Amino acid sequence: MIDGFGRKINYLRLSVTDRCNLKCYYCSNSETLAYLTHNDILTYEECLSLIRLTDSLGVNKVRLTGGEPFARKDFTEFLGLLRSELPDLDIRVTTNGTLLEGRVRLLHDIGIRWLNISLDTLNREKYGRITGRDYFTRVRQAIDDCLEAGIKVKINCVALNGFNDGELVDFVHFAQKNPVDVRFIEFMPVGEGSAWGEQYFWSAEKILADVQRIAAVAPVDHESENHGPARMYSLVEGRGRIGLISPLSNHFCATCNRFRITPDGKLRTCLFSDVEYDLMSPLRSSEGVEAVLKVMREAGAGKPIGHELLQAKRKCVSVCGRRMSSIGG
Ligand code: GTP
Ligand code: 5AD
Repeated sequence: MIDGFGRKINYLRLSVTDRCNLKCYYCSNSETLAYLTHNDILTYEECLSLIRLTDSLGVNKVRLTGGEPFARKDFTEFLGLLRSELPDLDIRVTTNGTLLEGRVRLLHDIGIRWLNISLDTLNREKYGRITGRDYFTRVRQAIDDCLEAGIKVKINCVALNGFNDGELVDFVHFAQKNPVDVRFIEFMPVGEGSAWGEQYFWSAEKILADVQRIAAVAPVDHESENHGPARMYSLVEGRGRIGLISPLSNHFCATCNRFRITPDGKLRTCLFSDVEYDLMSPLRSSEGVEAVLKVMREAGAGKPIGHELLQAKRKCVSVCGRRMSSIGG
C-alpha cells in the first residue's frame, strides 16, 4: 500500500491492551485511569483478522504493543497462534519487561527473535520513582534471560533531562558490556495530561555529543536498519550499540511506513494525529472484511505527512488526545 506521499506502508503497530502494570509518570501517571472494558477491545481473533488483512495489503512486519502486552491474558499463546497462521510475518513485541519471568524460552520457541524493552534508569530506587513500582530487578533479569535464550534486545530509554541525563555513562558502560541496543528516545508531548515540559527535553544531538565524550562511536548505515526510527551508532570498544530516536529535533516522517491500531480497533495513520478510522464496527458488522479493507485503503490514502502536525503544536503540552499507553508508542 502506497500513501499519498509515496510512502510504502509495510509496518503495523497493534496495541493489544491499554492496561499497564507500571505507572510511569510521563505516560499514565494516574492510579485511577479508566480502562477500556472487555467488550470494547479487539478479541484475539479480531486482532488476527486485522493483521491478516494488513498482510494482504503488503504489511510484512507487525509490532505488538500495549499498555503492557503481557498484562493481557494469554498474550504469549496469541503470539504462538499468530506465528503459526502467518509464518513469514516479522513479529516484534515492545514490553516493559516486568512479566517475562518463565516466558522467555517459550517466546524463543515461538520464533520471537527481538524484544524492545523499556528501561529509563539503571538504578533500582530511581526505577521505583519513575514507574511507581519496585520491578527493576525483574527487568534486569528479563534482559539477561533474553540474551541467554538468543533473543536480541533493544532497550528503550526515554531521555529525561534532570532525571537520567546523569546516568549516561552507566548506560554507555551497560552497552559496552552487553550485546544490546540502548536507544534514547526524545521525550514526546503525547497524550492528554502529559507531563511534558521544555525543561525535561534532552535532544538527540546533545545526547550524541554527550556519548562521544564518554566513548568512541561509529554511525551504522540507516538503510541496513530498515528505516526504523532510530539512528544507530556502534561502540568502537564494546559489544552493544547506542541509538537515538529523535521525533522532535529530527523527525523521520518522510520515511514513516506505519499504521497503528489501538486496542479498541481504531486505525491511526500518525502518532501525532487524532484522526482515527474505526475498524471494529465494520469488522463486527455483516459487511465484514471487504468493509474493513475499504477503510484501510482510505486511511492509507489520507495518511498525513506528520511533522507539520508536530511543528504546529510544538509548544503545547500535548499533540494528541490519547495517552501513549492506549496508542502503543
Ligand atoms: P523497531 O525499529 O522495529 O525496533 O521499532 P520501533 O523503534 O519503531 O518500536 P518501539 O515500540 O520500540 O518504539 C520506540 C520509540 O519510537 C517509542 O517511543 C515510539 O513511540 C517511537 N516511535 C515509533 N514509531 C514512531 C513514529 O512513527 N513516530 C514517532 N514520532 N515515534 C515513533
Ligand atoms: N515520549 C517518548 N517515549 C515515550 N514512551 C512512552 N511515552 C513516551 C513519550 N511521551 C516510550 C516507552 C516505550 C516506548 C514504546 O515508548 O517508554 O519504551
